Amino acid sequence: MKSSDILRDAESILDDTIQLRRRIHRHPELGLTLPRTQGAVLDVLHDLDLDVRTGQRTTSIVARLAGARPGPTILLRADMDALPMPEETGLPFASEVNGAMHACGHDAHTAMLVGAARLLARRRDSLAGSVLFMFQPGEEGYHGARVMIEEGLLDGTPPPTAAFALHVTHRLTAGAIAARSGPAMASGDTLQIVVRGRGGHASAPHDCLDPIPIACEIVQAFQTLVTRRVHVFDPAVVTVAKIEAGTTRNVIPDTASLLGTIRTVSEATRERVLDGVRRVAEGIAAAHGAEAAVELIRGYPVTVNDAAFADFVLDTARELLGSEVVHAMSHPIMASEDFSYVLQRVPGAIANLSTRPADGPAFPNHSPRMRVNESALPAGIAMHVAVALRFLAKGTGATTLA
Ligand code: NI
Repeated sequence: MKSSDILRDAESILDDTIQLRRRIHRHPELGLTLPRTQGAVLDVLHDLDLDVRTGQRTTSIVARLAGARPGPTILLRADMDALPMPEETGLPFASEVNGAMHACGHDAHTAMLVGAARLLARRRDSLAGSVLFMFQPGEEGYHGARVMIEEGLLDGTPPPTAAFALHVTHRLTAGAIAARSGPAMASGDTLQIVVRGRGGHASAPHDCLDPIPIACEIVQAFQTLVTRRVHVFDPAVVTVAKIEAGTTRNVIPDTASLLGTIRTVSEATRERVLDGVRRVAEGIAAAHGAEAAVELIRGYPVTVNDAAFADFVLDTARELLGSEVVHAMSHPIMASEDFSYVLQRVPGAIANLSTRPADGPAFPNHSPRMRVNESALPAGIAMHVAVALRFLAKGTGATTLA
């Protein structure tokens, strides 16, 4: 199978891919229950003669394509959920659901993976091994991948020994691919702190215990924690994004609350910073005779690409698309991703595909004006197909697609 054939096949199903992507885009669904999106995907998979299973606790889909001959299994992932935000693109197929939008490109991820399933199913007779298609709900903070793992995603026979996912970005020329070895995306944990003092008249702070300066001191001290206690080459971000206290100019409130996020790119630094945030907040409050109630809510772990598999993905991309559009990323992205749960158990990689619009400004993911350049979708379909074909071919000793 030549690279040019894979790209040509991917181009040949572009109309269907766009149609599915727009159908999903028009009706975005949130969280772990996406019946309409699941229905749209099942409609297309129906004709492909795959072993299809749907989730119990979520509307996930796991579909296995078994090749004609035995061999290893590779998992390919797409996420399917949207974001709770209004859409302001003005596109003719814009969201028809108030307060929901596919602003993270998961509609495109889903349509590309369906396209890849279609192309790989056509090649079933030449496949040695199988491809496991993972369509997950609840990527945007709902731990959808973890639920799928709990429901047996990785327990099939044979279990996957490699895993691959794509995520759209606006940062490169449309159709370009970027990936890196090692940490690819950050852990994302939430901090919630309530500093409890004692309120009273603002003219007599000595009769009160003012929580506001204590909260301010805690915010400052987090930045000292990050710069003085964290290795500069294994970094962390602590951002307090919300402070809430008080009601008016002449009343000292009882409490001040802080809300923020903690990002790291290694589990060791993650634990160190989580411990440090608790210690610093409690210690500073105690030093002033107040109390800090610290709640740390664990989000997604660090997304770590397997070094060998990430190299394999970059090689595959160079062969498929040409080295001028393939980029080895110098550093991780500090957003988080629940494909991390899969990569904790299966060596694999997530890569970025640029879908930067050719006309007009490129808004980032999670912007109400984020748009996907659909002409880049064949590159994504072809990447899924080529990674799978090349990985399964390795079992037979072949090393290139040509
Ligand atoms: Ni996303």
